[in-house]
Amino acid sequence: MKEDFFTYQAQTTPHPLAMEISHAEGSYIYDSNNKAYLDFVAGVSACSLGHKHPRVVNAIKEQLDKYLHVMVYGEYVQKSAVDLTKLLASQLPDPLKKTYLTNSGTEAIEGAMKLAKRFTGRSEIIAAKRAYHGNTQGAMSIMGFEERKQAFRPLLPDVHFIGFNNEADLEKITTKTAAVILETIQGGAGFIVPDENYLRKVKFRCQTVGALLILDEIQPGFGRTGKLFGFQNYNVVPDIVVMGKGMGGGMPIGAFTASTEIMDVLHDQPKLGHITTFGGHPVIAAASLATLKEILDSDLMCQTLDKEELFRELLQHEYIEEIRGKGLMLSLIVKNADIANQIILGCLQEGLILFWLLFEPKAVRITPPLTISEEEIKQGCSIIMKVLRNIKD
Ligand SMILES: Cc1ncc(COP(=O)(O)O)c(C=O)c1O
Repeated sequence: MKEDFFTYQAQTTPHPLAMEISHAEGSYIYDSNNKAYLDFVAGVSACSLGHKHPRVVNAIKEQLDKYLHVMVYGEYVQKSAVDLTKLLASQLPDPLKKTYLTNSGTEAIEGAMKLAKRFTGRSEIIAAKRAYHGNTQGAMSIMGFEERKQAFRPLLPDVHFIGFNNEADLEKITTKTAAVILETIQGGAGFIVPDENYLRKVKFRCQTVGALLILDEIQPGFGRTGKLFGFQNYNVVPDIVVMGKGMGGGMPIGAFTASTEIMDVLHDQPKLGHITTFGGHPVIAAASLATLKEILDSDLMCQTLDKEELFRELLQHEYIEEIRGKGLMLSLIVKNADIANQIILGCLQEGLILFWLLFEPKAVRITPPLTISEEEIKQGCSIIMKVLRNIKD
């Protein structure tokens, strides 16, 4: 099977891990030799309830028995999508009320950028250096990492960059700006949290010049930082919030939410401001609704902060310079990239899944399912410590 994988399935890196998956349940993934791997990555922050969560699986099965795809986005009234957007509205601060459901995070970013341009009548987008928002060409245009985008130029014009947490740069946001888009916590850059009041200052500047603030919650979203959305930790409300990954409970989805006033410009002049065939798919919306309900009904969000403490307590070693991030969105910043590689590959051999971050080679990603138990955290951290002890710098 591995040979066919390399022959027929397009590759995105020269050295994929190429682990052959047999099945997955809870916090574990099993390979085709039935070796169990404790999952500290959760499909890159996507499997927030672990693998095959019964509530998600049942919701999918129930919807499968009713209907699958019936119509392109937005024409028919489909219960799982309506219930999902209604429950989301009840959990989001005012005036965030109307949600557009998409197929992926990057598509939601595209929709949010289009919405900001359409609402403000302006074209300039300001993003952050070392930001990642997805891989379609609009999202790539606002990626703050030239090395990965150069080969695909020309990209969108009128895109400018500011330093994340750099208050002096806020002056670059002007009356020409349609939107400022930021990750609430920068992911690919190494899980960099916003400084005290930084996001509030960005919002204030946006309000002053009539620009919209878009926050990309695709990784922190649905509970990973102790609140449903990361921005709720920072006393700020964006004009448009973009979500994805963890909201699907393991299914592909994205969404962007705004006030009724802002969102309604997408349906007229021109109509069909954003179209998608499968966005809001009933089975996927059912999975997302079940995920949201489970996160709200349980105390998983509160546990996230205790689990973060446990990680910070257990992972102490001279090679670990810093543990960045918040809740269960953590990265070990180690002495150098070679040590990061040795940790990730060494742990994999020992049955623990870790991963890299996009733009920070000294980082090791720790984003387990929110459902991970304390026992599993202790078990995984003891593997990391064992591997660290065997590393020769
Ligand atoms: C912060 C952020 N924004 C956008 C995306 C793109 O989401 P997707 O891969 O679902 O298109 C990602 C994916 O890693 C992400 O981490």
